[in-house]
Amino acid sequence: EFGYFTYDPGFVSTASCKSAITYLNGDKGDLLYRGYPIEQLAEQCSHLEVSYLLLNGELPTAEQLKTFEYTISHHTLIKDNLLKFFDGFNHDAHPMAMMTGVVGSLAGFYHDNLNILDPDHRKITAHRLIAKMPTIAAACYKHNIQQPFIYPRNDLSYCGNLLHMMFATPCEEYEIDPVAEKAMDVLFILHADHEQNASTSTVRLAGSSDANPYAAIAAGIACLWGPAHGGANEAVLRMLDQIGDVSNIEKFVAKAKDKNDSFKLMGFGHRVYKNFDPRAKIIKTICHDVLAKYGNDPRMELAMRLEEIALQDEYFIERKLYPNVDFYSGIIYKALGIPVEMFTPMFAIARTVGWISHWMEMIADPAKKIGRPRQLYIGAAKRDVPAISTR
Ligand code: SDX
Repeated sequence: EFGYFTYDPGFVSTASCKSAITYLNGDKGDLLYRGYPIEQLAEQCSHLEVSYLLLNGELPTAEQLKTFEYTISHHTLIKDNLLKFFDGFNHDAHPMAMMTGVVGSLAGFYHDNLNILDPDHRKITAHRLIAKMPTIAAACYKHNIQQPFIYPRNDLSYCGNLLHMMFATPCEEYEIDPVAEKAMDVLFILHADHEQNASTSTVRLAGSSDANPYAAIAAGIACLWGPAHGGANEAVLRMLDQIGDVSNIEKFVAKAKDKNDSFKLMGFGHRVYKNFDPRAKIIKTICHDVLAKYGNDPRMELAMRLEEIALQDEYFIERKLYPNVDFYSGIIYKALGIPVEMFTPMFAIARTVGWISHWMEMIADPAKKIGRPRQLYIGAAKRDVPAISTR
């Protein structure tokens, strides 16, 4: 009953739900979106083409893609009232803190007659979220740097619009670099979905109470922010800056192995992949292309040496710790001029289609709902309450 894939009985009992969206095989390093290998999708498709696939289960025809692109571009505007939200944040507020609040507030704008049991209501919710996340992320960035908000434009691509909203100013035209646009589009495909990762499971659990979908996505954003999850791309850059020089690598690898030291090699290891993360391989190639254009980043060489040393180290080999999707993505974002604090918001933009696809799948078929998690109680045995005078 599990389609084309067989699972050992032990695994079946650990599965939190059934889903037809993404297939992971951590031992083989396989990643399929609706049956298509990530390598082929990254090579041949655009992020919006893959978003259509994740939402609808099939790749779009040329006509369907054109309509989808038009629909998304015409939902990129946010209500002007929403912009007032930013006045409440200090300028040094982390953009993930702002995104969590602002995306959650969409529930206050789109709740009238929202009937999540109506497929059309679910579809427009998905379109609104996919379209508005770049606008909201760019608004967070402009708030951080105290520059005026730049409105979206319908004549630009999904990633071109994001770059324009982040880096354009009212004073002069901003030229979108096709290398940057393409690199971001591929990165967004690679980050679009990943089975029941922590943030997707958070969206499913929050959505399983039939909560407003914008609130459920805000819960996913909050979870993604953690450095053990989506916050790792920001943490990798900070780690590379902390290591500073190739001569310090051995010292930091030793720290990562020391159980008394909380330091971990950020960008290494994965709850599921016990082989190379297929996305890391693709991102490493993009890294070289981007740095060929934008000038080498010393952290790239440091990252490659760190990967080389770690992959030859018994501790990492025994534990099957390989670079994951976050190990190189930050170097690309940095090369494109995106500040470290905006790395995880980039991840959130890309993952929105995965989150909302899982939400739609679950609401459409309650049998796919995540059950109410239970626990093994290890606390005190049953006892009577003593009077306070005797405590
Ligand atoms: C993402 O789930 C997803 O799909 C997530 C994601 C997605 O697309 O949604 O892929 C995105 O979150 C990628 C992961 C990004 N996080 C990081 O890069 C942070 C650094 N990595 C670690 O925090 C860690 O690897 C985790 C949290 C990712 C996984 O932790 P686990 O499940 O404990 O890893 P494990 O069971 O494989 O660990 C086995 C051993 C343990 O040591 P022992 O108890 O066996 O002695 O390896 C150790 C761990 O302590 N270990 C590390 C390590 N990661 C695991 N030691 C040093 N450095 C590391 N990075």
